[in-house]
Amino acid sequence: MNIAVFVSGNGTNLEAIIDAVSRDEIKAKIALVVSDNKDAYALERAKKAGIDTFILSSKGFKKREDYDKEIIKELEKKNIQLIVLAGFMRLMSGYFVKKYKHKIMNIHPALLPSFKGTHSIKDAFEYGVKKTGVTVHFVDEELDHGSIILQESVDVDENDTLDTLEEKIHKVEHKLYPEAIKLFTENKLKIEDRKVKIKD
Ligand code: GRF
Repeated sequence: MNIAVFVSGNGTNLEAIIDAVSRDEIKAKIALVVSDNKDAYALERAKKAGIDTFILSSKGFKKREDYDKEIIKELEKKNIQLIVLAGFMRLMSGYFVKKYKHKIMNIHPALLPSFKGTHSIKDAFEYGVKKTGVTVHFVDEELDHGSIILQESVDVDENDTLDTLEEKIHKVEHKLYPEAIKLFTENKLKIEDRKVKIKD
């Protein structure tokens, strides 16, 4: 199976997926890394691992769909069967989501449906929750809304700072995302209504 990973920033999740593939835990190929940001450090990680990259700035595109169509051309060239959003800071168009229904995953650093959006670790920390966590879900037309594949909770201790909490969350992300991708590539995810069941 050919996977594309979409990134905009640091790429620590990309790195965790690269490692899981190289350890043969995920039996698939990362055939492409897509970025909307030419300066994303994730691109360095991709290059180091010998993975092809496609960089497309959204500047000059009037419609979200037009941007996505350019990306789809590249995905089709590489026969991509799974799209993994790993810190990709753009919303996909309805057109894209429909075309790859149940074939796009995202990772979110909170227990959805709590703390949607881009500052969820900080939002949860400042709210004073005792537990937060990580969610891997399929992507649908709504932000941080699609069917949940895996979730893992993280305790917020009284002596945690935002930094230590971030560290704990990222550690869980780097374990959970490869697990979810492995399940997908082994065809173990079954979707009923909005529930994702895991076949053994
Ligand atoms: C992660 O916290 C992920 O949950 C969120 O964006 C961040 C990406 O981090 N969607 P990295 O670029 O993988 O290091």
